[in-house]
Amino acid sequence: MHHGPDIPETPYEEVAVTGGAGFVGRHLVTALSLLSRKVTVVDQAPLPPGLETLPGVSHVRTDLCDYGETLLALQGADAVFHLAGNASGTESVADPRRDFRLNALGTCNVGNACLELGVRRLVYLSSAIVYGTPSHSPIREDDHPTRPFLPYGASKLSGELALRSLYATAGLPVVIGRSFVVYGPGEDPRRAGGEVSQFLRWHLNERPIPVVGDIDRKRRDFIHVEDLCRALLTLAARGADGETYNLGTGTAVSMRELAGAVGAATGRPALLDADTSSLADSFTLLADVTRLRGLGFTPRVTLAEGLTGLAALLGPFPELPTARAVFRREAPARRRLTPPAAVGAREEAGTC
Ligand SMILES: NC(=O)c1ccc[n+]([C@@H]2O[C@H](COP(=O)([O-])OP(=O)(O)OC[C@H]3O[C@@H](n4cnc5c(N)ncnc54)[C@H](O)[C@@H]3O)[C@@H](O)[C@H]2O)c1
Repeated sequence: MHHGPDIPETPYEEVAVTGGAGFVGRHLVTALSLLSRKVTVVDQAPLPPGLETLPGVSHVRTDLCDYGETLLALQGADAVFHLAGNASGTESVADPRRDFRLNALGTCNVGNACLELGVRRLVYLSSAIVYGTPSHSPIREDDHPTRPFLPYGASKLSGELALRSLYATAGLPVVIGRSFVVYGPGEDPRRAGGEVSQFLRWHLNERPIPVVGDIDRKRRDFIHVEDLCRALLTLAARGADGETYNLGTGTAVSMRELAGAVGAATGRPALLDADTSSLADSFTLLADVTRLRGLGFTPRVTLAEGLTGLAALLGPFPELPTARAVFRREAPARRRLTPPAAVGAREEAGTC
C-alpha cells in the first residue's frame, strides 16, 4: 500500500465504508485514514489484519440484508461508500438468489437508510458488467445499452436502478461509479477473476499462463485499486447527484500485451497458453472516461508500475489462481414441493 500525498481531499468528516473488509474496501479505508477521517467499516466479515490499528478506524459487524442493522451501522455518517456485495460473476451463476439479496436488496437497504439518516453523499461502486457484451468501444455511460448476461450484472444494475429511483423520488444524493477491471494487492486468488493478478501468479510459478480466447481481440481496461480509490474519492467530492461515471483508465490492453508487460516487470518473458475453443469474451471492454476526467481525475499508476509492485508483494511461487469464469450452470434438478416443504421454502425466501 503506497498511497501518496495525491489522495483527493474529501469534504466529509465521518465516513462509512460498506464492504470495508474486502479487497477494494481495505484500500479505501486506508486512504480515508491517511486523510484523518473517522471511518466506520460496515461489513459482515471481521476486519482484516492491519486495518484495526489504523487511526480513526472502527468496525460495526453488519448484515446489510437486515434493514435495522443497516440503519444502526450507518448512523452518524456524513458520507457512505457502498462497496459491499457479491463481486463474483461465477458465484452469481451458482447462486443467483444470494447474489440478488446482497447486491439488489442490500443496496436498496443502504440507499433507504441514507435517506432516513440524512447522509449527505452516497457513492455506489457498480461494475462495467452492467453493460453486458460490448456493442462498441470505448463505452460511454449513456449511449451504450445495459444488457447484462450474468446474474451478477443484473443484480448490480438493479442496485443502480434502486438508488437512481431514490434520487428521482426522494433526492438521495447518490453518485454511481462503474468500475472496469480492478487489480492490485489483496485479491483473493480463489475468487478473483481479473487477468492481471492471475497472469502474474502463473508466471511467478514459472508456468505458462492459461488464457481463454483470442489473445489479440480480448482487450480490457485495467485500473489499479489505488487509482480506483482516488476515483471514488473524486466522485464523493465532485460527482453530480444522480449521475453515473465510468471508472477506468481509457486504455485497452490485449492479453498478448499484458503478457508482454508481465515479462517486462519480472525480467523473464511470459509464455501464453491460449485456448481458443471459446471466443465468447474475446472483445474489447474499454471505458470512455471523458466524464470522470471532467471531474479532474487522472490515473496515476501505470500498468508497468502496478505489475512491478504486485510482483514484489507476491514474491516467488505465490498461490496459483483457482477462480474459474463460469457463464452457465447445469440445469437444476426439478423440485416437487409438498405443502410442508413449500412453507419452509417461503420462510427461507423471506429472510431478506
Ligand atoms: N474486484 C473487482 O474487480 C470489481 C470490479 C468492478 C466492481 N467491483 C465492485 O466493487 C465492490 C467490492 O468488490 P471487492 O472485489 O472488494 O469484493 P470483496 O468480496 O473482496 O468484498 C466485498 C465485501 O462485502 C462484504 N459483504 C458482502 N455481503 C455483505 C452483507 N450482506 N453485509 C455486509 N457486508 C457484506 C464482504 O464481507 C466483503 O468484505 C463490489 O460491490 C463489486 O461489485 C469489483
